[in-house]
Amino acid sequence: MRADQIIERILVDRETLHRRLAELAQAISSDYEGKDLVLVCVLKGGVTFLTDLMRQLTILHEVDFLAISSYGIGQRDSSGAVRLIMDLKADIAGRDVLIVEDIVDTGQTMDYLLRLFQAREPASLGVCTLLNKPSRRLVEVPLDYIGFDIPDEFVLGYGLDFDEKYRNLPYVAVLKKEYFDGLPDET
Ligand code: PRP
Repeated sequence: MRADQIIERILVDRETLHRRLAELAQAISSDYEGKDLVLVCVLKGGVTFLTDLMRQLTILHEVDFLAISSYGIGQRDSSGAVRLIMDLKADIAGRDVLIVEDIVDTGQTMDYLLRLFQAREPASLGVCTLLNKPSRRLVEVPLDYIGFDIPDEFVLGYGLDFDEKYRNLPYVAVLKKEYFDGLPDET
């Protein structure tokens, strides 16, 4: 089904995203100047944000990736089951780690990641999330950089999926309520 058929409205358009990313990149570049920065991206949703953000950083940095299964949590429910599927390649001990995420919703994924990485004794551990849904929080997590606080609506685009698709949309949009339970079978 075409994106325009399932979208209620655009929440953050591409110009606004671009402007905010420039501000975040400037703040991160200033805060991490001279440090041993490793950007850690959580697959899959964070990839779009990471790749746009890193291109605007003016300081040296590395990137690394991990994958987790977050079955039953995320935007629609909250069983809280998080499992590591693919670990980082980098040893982060003594380094300055900044986790880059697309969205913090209940906070359970970020809580898991912070505990996982803290145990590896980085020099510092920070969080940068493009989107934050504070009204959905079940676990309090410290967020150092937030792109946008958003209301409790199902959002897709710019890395965020709906049934694993629509991650390529260049904006963040709100899903029509009639599709909350998935797309009809014929699509
Ligand atoms: C999303 C998002 C976060 C998590 C946030 O991932 O990328 O990792 O949910 O939810 P929480 O705050 O309630 O824990 P998702 O499970 O949709 O996987 P994806 O990134 O592969 O799309």
